Amino acid sequence: MQDKRKHLSDLKKQSQEGGGQKRIDAQHAKGKLTARERIHFLLDEGSFQEMGALVQHRSDLFGLDKQKILGDGVVTGYGTVNGRLVYVFAQDFTVLGGSLAEAHAEKITKVMDLAMKTGAPLIGLNDSGGARIQEGVVSLGGYSDIFYRNVQASGVIPQFSAMMGPCAGGAVYSPALTDFIMMVEDTSYMFVTGPNVVKTVTHEEVTAEELGGASAHSTKSGVTHFTYPNEISLIEGLKKLLSYVPQNCDEEPPSLPYEPGDEMRQVLKDIVPENPNQPYDMKEVIAGIVDEDTFHEVHKDFAENMIVGFARLAGKSVGVVANQPAYLAGVLDIHASTKGARFVRFCDSFNIPLLVLEDVPGFLPGTDQEWNGIITNGAKLLYAFSEATVPRITVITRKAYGGAYCVMNSKQIGADMNFAWPTAEIAVMGAKGAAEIIFRKEIKEAEDHEAKLAEKEAEYSEAFANPYRAAYRGYVDDVILPEETREKLIKAFSMLENKAVKLPKKKHGNLPL
Ligand code: HXC
Repeated sequence: MQDKRKHLSDLKKQSQEGGGQKRIDAQHAKGKLTARERIHFLLDEGSFQEMGALVQHRSDLFGLDKQKILGDGVVTGYGTVNGRLVYVFAQDFTVLGGSLAEAHAEKITKVMDLAMKTGAPLIGLNDSGGARIQEGVVSLGGYSDIFYRNVQASGVIPQFSAMMGPCAGGAVYSPALTDFIMMVEDTSYMFVTGPNVVKTVTHEEVTAEELGGASAHSTKSGVTHFTYPNEISLIEGLKKLLSYVPQNCDEEPPSLPYEPGDEMRQVLKDIVPENPNQPYDMKEVIAGIVDEDTFHEVHKDFAENMIVGFARLAGKSVGVVANQPAYLAGVLDIHASTKGARFVRFCDSFNIPLLVLEDVPGFLPGTDQEWNGIITNGAKLLYAFSEATVPRITVITRKAYGGAYCVMNSKQIGADMNFAWPTAEIAVMGAKGAAEIIFRKEIKEAEDHEAKLAEKEAEYSEAFANPYRAAYRGYVDDVILPEETREKLIKAFSMLENKAVKLPKKKHGNLPL
C-alpha cells in the first residue's frame, strides 16, 4: 500500500507541475499567474476540488508522444466563491501553449455538464493558443463540443470568461458565446487570426496589442465587457460581478440586508441643468438613486452614450440601463443599441429587474448609421425590452424623443411603471426640428423667418416640452420630484416582486441579428 500511495502522490505532484518550472518562470516573467495560482485567488480557501488531474492526451503524432503531461494543459473542478458553488476551468499556457485538443476539451465539457446539472455558474480562465495543431481534427471536434454546450447553457447558468493570456482561434469563440468577457491590459489578447496571418492575407502590419488587446476590445469592438490592469484585480472584479447574479435562471439574485430609512435624496435635485441642451452626467443620477457605491458598470468604455451595469436598490440587485447625455447627447446609435440589448437580455434571463433612466434625443442620423444597419440594430434594443418579463421601470429625466421614446422601455412595450421628472420632454422630436417641419410654409411666408421659427418653436415647446401630455394619457404613471425617485423606485420594485408574465408559446423568437 505504501508504494501505491507514493505512486499516487508522485502522479499528483507531476500534474501540479504543468509544463515545468522553466515555463512557469517564463509565465511569471510576463506578469502572468499560472492556472493554479489563478484558481487559488478566485476560490474560497480550501474549497477547490480538482477533477481530471491525471488525464493525458492520446496522440503520438508530431512529437506529442514525448509531451504527455498529466492534466493536458487545463485545470478543472469546482469550489466556492463567497460560499456559492461555481465550476471552473483554467488553461495552463505552460503546457503546449494551453492549446486545446480531445482530452483537454473533455475535461472542460465534463465540468460544463455538471454546472448545467447542478445549476451553478461556469467560469473559464482562458490562456490558450487555440486548437492544438498537432492533434488536427479532434481539436476542432473538442471546440465544437464546448461551443455546443456554451449555447445550451446560455440563459440557464451564468457563464464568465476571463482572458488571461494570448487567446487565438477557437479560444475566443467559446468566450464569445458566454455572458461576460474580461481582459487584462497588456497581457491578454483575443483574435480569430493573429498578426502573422493578418500580414500574410491582407498585408496589414498590426501588433497583437493593436489587433486584439484589451483596449481594442473594450473601446472598438465591444468584445470585452471589463478590462483590468492585472490578473488579481480582474479576479476581484469577477467576484464582485458574481455577487449580483443568481446561480441559475430558476433562482433570484442574492440580496443584502436593508433597513428602510429616509430615502429622500436631495443630491438629485440639481443635476439636470435648466438649459435642455446642456449636458450632465447620468452616472451622478445613478449614484444618487442606488445604494451607496453599488453601481458596477459593464462595458464602461464602449458606446459611452449608453450606460449599463448592475447596482443594488434597497439591497436587491437591479440592472441599470441609462442614456448618457454627457456623451453624444445620449443619442442611440448602433453600438449603444446592441450594448443595451445584450445587457437587457442577460438581466431578463437571470431574473434581475431593470431600471431605465431616459434622456435621449433620438436615433443618430446619417449614412454611416443607416448603411451599417441602425434599423436592424436599433430593433435589437426594442426587441430585448419588449420580450423582457422581469420587473421593468423607467424614469424619464429629460428628453424622450421619437422612436427612442418607444424603445427605451416605454409603457407600450411592456414597462410596468413609468415615472417622469418635471424636466421631462416627451415628444416626437425636439421643438426646433418639429417647428421647421410642421410650420415650414408659415415660416417661409413670414417676413422675418427667424422670428417666426422662434415663435413656432416656443409654441411646440410649450405643448410638448413637459411630461404632462404623456401623464394625462397614462403613458407615465406619475410625475415625481427627483429627490423622491429612490423611494418611489424601492416601493415600485417591491410591489413588482411577484410579477409573473407568460410569453406566447413558441420555439424561440427571431431577434433581428
Ligand atoms: C499547439 C501551440 C499552439 C497551438 C501555441 N503553442 N499555440 N501548440 N497548438 N495552437 C505552443 C507553441 O508552439 C509554444 O511551444 C508554446 O505553445 C508557447 O507559444 P509561443 O508562440 O511561444 O507563445 P507567444 O509568443 O506568447 O504566442 C502565443 C500565441 C501563438 C499568440 C497564442 O503561440 C500563436 O499564434 N499560436 C497559434 C495560434 C493559432 O493559430 N491557433 C490555432 C487557431 S485555429 P514551445 O514548445 O515552442 O514553447 C483554431 C480552430 C478553431 O483554433 C476554430 C473554431 C471556430
